Amino acid sequence: MADCPLSPESAQVQKEAGPLYARLTVGKKRSLREKAMAFLDLLEREEGGPGVSQARRVEVLRDIERHRYYEHTADELLWGCRFAWRHSIRCVGRFFWRQLEVRDERHVKSEGEVAASCFEHLRLATNAGAIQPLVTVFPARKNVASVPWRIWNYQLVRYAGYRAEDGEILGDPAEAEFTAWCESNGWLPPKDKGRFDVLPLVISGPRVPPSIVTIPRERILEVNLEHPDFHWFKELKLRWYAAPIVSNMLLEIGGLQYPAAPFNGWYMGTEIGARNLADFSRYDMLPDIAERMGILEKKEACLWRDRALVELNRAVLHSYKAAGVRIVDHHTAAQLHVRFEHDEQRLGRPVTGLWDWLVPPMSGAATPLWNRVYDATEYSPNFLYQDVPWKSER
Ligand code: ARG
Repeated sequence: MADCPLSPESAQVQKEAGPLYARLTVGKKRSLREKAMAFLDLLEREEGGPGVSQARRVEVLRDIERHRYYEHTADELLWGCRFAWRHSIRCVGRFFWRQLEVRDERHVKSEGEVAASCFEHLRLATNAGAIQPLVTVFPARKNVASVPWRIWNYQLVRYAGYRAEDGEILGDPAEAEFTAWCESNGWLPPKDKGRFDVLPLVISGPRVPPSIVTIPRERILEVNLEHPDFHWFKELKLRWYAAPIVSNMLLEIGGLQYPAAPFNGWYMGTEIGARNLADFSRYDMLPDIAERMGILEKKEACLWRDRALVELNRAVLHSYKAAGVRIVDHHTAAQLHVRFEHDEQRLGRPVTGLWDWLVPPMSGAATPLWNRVYDATEYSPNFLYQDVPWKSER
């Protein structure tokens, strides 16, 4: 298992899957009509999928001809979202792509409705800890000139990062720029600022200016971190939120763009324990943890960073489990990704991935992903990066 690079077989599959998938690569200049038809072809050949009638093809072609636009049916939207997850080359959790549920919110008309729907997404996705993979789809961009709905936050729940005069940051440094934007546009942070203050939602649409909305406290589930063996760990007062709901990416299906389509799965422990709380440029907790562990002389060769990292990650997995919040460890996640790859290969679909994203940020070589080789082609449907709204001209 550990040494079976994918390249030769996957090249073969690519060739077989070729004609269709060649028409589904992201970013190529193709007409809406071509993109829509390629998507319907993909849907049609999907085992267990809803199928596509000839009448539907005719209807889509006619709508595109008349309006340079068409609308997805509920089934097309559901499966389009699932394909978008299946095609996400950075995601190690794709084994579960069929479990993705979709909320159709293409009818919303106001910032208030978008906000309320995001709160509902939080409730349904958090699911009292039994995290449900979920996408909420807001209106598609009608044409290049129209101003679409956007959620400016990277994720629905994130912690503020307050930059002090001396450059020190309280909270999450990754959110310093967004936090500064919120503060200078009227958001009032809590009176005594802390390391884990939840940011407000920023929503913009056809009308300006963007609105800044506080998320109701009861919609946000968080986990206080404790360690299975080290009683002092909880004194670090670390916490993290239950569900990572990415809200700044563009969902592309059959040539249509959905610039607001927040989606989530559940966490893999290392995202929190080996990056968010550990990175030097994030919460940078390894030195504190090492000291608490009694490692007083921090010589690199004594591997204090690695030892602290393991204990922090044990604490994350232990605390989420104890709180009844679904989470996966990186070994299990990597093994499931290999199963996903085998499934895809067996079904004659190209196996794609981005190695440096898929391999976990600790013990990479102790997982079966280390020796594998990935083709990083992005197929449509997919979730794509888009411009940062507060940097782009509106
Ligand atoms: N890595 C991001 C974070 O730590 C979340 C990205 C999505 N993760 C996921 N498990 N679906 O917040």
